[in-house]
Amino acid sequence: MHLSALHHVELCVANGKKIASYFTEKLGYSLRAQRDTVLSKQWVVGSQKSTFVVTEKKKQFQQEHVPFSYFSAPLRQVDSVFNVALEVKNLESVTERMQNVGGKLFHPVTEVEDQSGKVRYSIVSSCCGNIVHTLLDKSQYKGSFLPTFDETFTIRGEEKITHIDHLTYVCHPGESPGIIQWYQSCLGMQKFKTNPTEDLKEGLVIKDGVGMRLRVMDYWPCAESGICNSDPSNGMDETSLKIVIAESLLGKENLHINAFLDGHGGPGLQHIGLSTLDITSCVDSMSRKKVSFRTPPAAYYRNKWKRNEIEAAGYDINTFQQLGILIDSEADTRANKDNQDKFLLQIFTLPLFKEETFFLELVQRKGARGFGAGNVTALARSIEEERQVLKNSNAVCNI
Ligand SMILES: [Fe+2]
Repeated sequence: MHLSALHHVELCVANGKKIASYFTEKLGYSLRAQRDTVLSKQWVVGSQKSTFVVTEKKKQFQQEHVPFSYFSAPLRQVDSVFNVALEVKNLESVTERMQNVGGKLFHPVTEVEDQSGKVRYSIVSSCCGNIVHTLLDKSQYKGSFLPTFDETFTIRGEEKITHIDHLTYVCHPGESPGIIQWYQSCLGMQKFKTNPTEDLKEGLVIKDGVGMRLRVMDYWPCAESGICNSDPSNGMDETSLKIVIAESLLGKENLHINAFLDGHGGPGLQHIGLSTLDITSCVDSMSRKKVSFRTPPAAYYRNKWKRNEIEAAGYDINTFQQLGILIDSEADTRANKDNQDKFLLQIFTLPLFKEETFFLELVQRKGARGFGAGNVTALARSIEEERQVLKNSNAVCNI
């Protein structure tokens, strides 16, 4: 079996059917499994190599234990993406290391079995907001998801999303070094350069009216203590896990980061980058299904550098503007001719929940390892513009 570091991401929402339908009806995901227990209703949706679990908690308090069930709400009782489930090689060791650096053990190592084999798991809190990690050892399991879930293979034609490109956490100013240290200690993750000029100690600092700092980390292929992965030689290997940490610069609060912290009730998982091999047809198809994307400022498409980048990459400027797709040709690496054909295409959805919290990003990479450094300013501005529009119009939800 082809192991991935990231097994699935779980959302806990008030209306599970609605969010599960968003994935299946609008994003092209397939319903892979379901479960209805005394604690919750759950929908497992998948697209090629990405899997989400949508959990709708039942209101009545239940004492019963249900395998793989744990809910971690933010301080505010709002919909939240709270569980980053990981496959690990040494379950006991990773569980213990997380506890040693302050992770709270919500569920000890336990074995669950069905006709497809055994899965062992534990659940431990992370050091960032309400994010928890279900740690999984599936080495003795042949089923497609997890025991106790009813598997329903309803592949819905073409699944346009391939895998999860990255997860982005938001935290308070100054907290990101501690978060990175925590993951380095527990999972052997390492800092990842968002562009060749980035100072790893400082991260990517974006001033100019944005006031944001990004730090990125990815897996470290440590057979003894790290996350399972198959190709450590390639930094953009789809089986690896990349986590971006975003925080406001001290004294220069970023509006959209603050909006997340306020809406969510503290740090947590703000957005997920989903990879596609053809972002143009993907966005076109999703737009027809009424997925609402953030609209970049029109000035972005008037910028001669961006126009050149779009054309050099072989795309049509008007199509990009109509769809709202952004391009980053890794401007910081332009001096290197080997990198001149490398680019990143990206676009962001509006928030999925009632609050201005979680959203999705679509990403198409052609050789680019960065996260659109050249686009961050434009994107942040578009997000802030959108926030003002939403605030003024009181329109909050697009699904
Ligand atoms: Fe992102």
